[in-house]
Amino acid sequence: MSGIIGYCGKKPASGILLEGLKKLEYRGCDSAGICVGTDTGFRIIKKTGKVRDLKAIVPEEPFGQNGIGHSRWATHGGVTEENTHPHLDCTGKIAVVHNGIIENYSQIKEKLITKGHVFKSETDTEIIAHLIEDFYAGDLTQALRETAKLLKGTYGIVVMHNDLPNVLVGARNGSPLILGIGDKEMFIASDVNTMTSYTKQVVYLEDGEIITITPDEFHISDFHKKSANKTIKKVDWESEIIEKGDFEHFMLKEIYEQKESVVRGMAGRLNVNLATGHLGGLNMTNAELLNVERVIIVAAGTSYHAGLVAAYLLESLARIPASAELASELRYKNPIIQKNALYFVVSQSGETADTLHALRELKRKGAKVLGICNAVGSTIARETDGGVYIHSGPEIAVASTKAFTSQLVALYIFTLIMARIRDMSFEAGAEFVKQLQGLPDIIDKVLLKSEEIKKLVKKYSFAKSFLFLGRGINYFVAMEGALKLKEISYIHAEGFSAAEVRHGPIALINEETPSLFLVPDDRLRDKIISNIREVKVRKGKVIAVVVEGDDEVAQIADDVITVPSVSEYIYPFVMAVPLQLFAYYMALELGRNVDQPRNLSKSVTVG
Ligand code: AGP
Repeated sequence: MSGIIGYCGKKPASGILLEGLKKLEYRGCDSAGICVGTDTGFRIIKKTGKVRDLKAIVPEEPFGQNGIGHSRWATHGGVTEENTHPHLDCTGKIAVVHNGIIENYSQIKEKLITKGHVFKSETDTEIIAHLIEDFYAGDLTQALRETAKLLKGTYGIVVMHNDLPNVLVGARNGSPLILGIGDKEMFIASDVNTMTSYTKQVVYLEDGEIITITPDEFHISDFHKKSANKTIKKVDWESEIIEKGDFEHFMLKEIYEQKESVVRGMAGRLNVNLATGHLGGLNMTNAELLNVERVIIVAAGTSYHAGLVAAYLLESLARIPASAELASELRYKNPIIQKNALYFVVSQSGETADTLHALRELKRKGAKVLGICNAVGSTIARETDGGVYIHSGPEIAVASTKAFTSQLVALYIFTLIMARIRDMSFEAGAEFVKQLQGLPDIIDKVLLKSEEIKKLVKKYSFAKSFLFLGRGINYFVAMEGALKLKEISYIHAEGFSAAEVRHGPIALINEETPSLFLVPDDRLRDKIISNIREVKVRKGKVIAVVVEGDDEVAQIADDVITVPSVSEYIYPFVMAVPLQLFAYYMALELGRNVDQPRNLSKSVTVG
């Protein structure tokens, strides 16, 4: 997912643009560029690579009035300087940056070439600059409005014109665009964290909106010139959170932050006296919740794994039919909306295209859809019928860690609410609340295994493939552990139900393919031990995540990672953290780019 930024105001633009691009880089970056307006015209600087590579060729002394910048995650056209944004029109007076995909760009490009326009790049974005050139007759906003009407697909666009040194215009459809309101300066970007060190006053644009910005004012309207009434919102966290602090990588910082982020997710949401939870954002009374006959959770990637855990818990504790579905599949399968079904879309970024389109399809069919999001004001959060922010704080590393456990916190509290308005007793509810309140200490204990896991990883860095195995609610944690390992270490890994090994995957077992088993001291422990034996007799190496003191497993497995004993339903939290650390240290051992693994971006807003 690319990142865009624009600035107009009293400060020199170049430094602000570079600082903003650095904060956007986590979204995925294979090239970056800026265009800055100066008294002698546009100054455009582009570079393939990371933002630091661009910064190395930008004059150290900040310069320029207004400007736009872009960190590119290539979708159309290779990683070359010609394809790096910003893109210009034929006159060289109009510069554009864009995040998203223009689906009808090739037809438009053909028409523009026929009209004599000359293209320099293979990108879809460049057509925007040439369309604006055709429509421009002194009003840049109107030229962008006419252009936007022709575009099909998703875009967040920011445009500047060489003759308008203190104006920026932008348009939004399907890719986020946020205005930051400063003191005689304005910011516009795809991510609010680019501006929070300058202002906490922001406005979120909606799809189909156009914005005109000068240092002192802004105006937002729709594609038909109708003014939009917008609310100025206050961002509730410091940009300092977006720093690594003493950690080498954002991912390690965010793994360690889980002992605080789970607390933020529970704050004000547990009712000890009534042994239940409270989630105001659901916008549903207990009577309405009692009428819910099925819960379906829709998400992608790690968020899907959180949904699988929650669906298992809802069926076990609230005795309500529940399932989790991949957003990418549901959006195309013409889903049957069941009466009294309640849907959740779960998304850390709140901008994942598959999840957003699944949400829109469900709502089109009349479903009630709630959101579980992290990014406040994100598109998914704003298009649902209500929902819950997980308050895990900005998650910068591409590999999701604290968002996963924070999503579980929100979904566990929802399960508690549903269970307590059904058959869960006060005592059982009180115990569940106690277990949730004990999470920070439990996570703290698991984090103490960090150095042990770091050593263990070295012994298995030879592996070309890993199996992750769990049963019951931990089957889905095994899937999450496999995703973590493969997405940052590039080692192939698969998560299986441990029982399924004998139905095929056991053919994979040999001395080159280690198996990592999750072995909580729950009712399925003995079953898992027999699965471990089946792997061992076939010379498979076994790492077991076991409860402290479980000597029987320690004697069978080649290596163990010990964790505290907790109630059966709390193990997903306890088992997830060692798997996150395992993946992190393996990626480090293999010299991978831990925070920004190859081919990945933080939020997949295209597709
Ligand atoms: C998880 O580590 C991945 N980065 C990815 O699977 C991610 O969870 C998925 O793309 C969904 O993102 P979202 O939660 O922002 O919707």
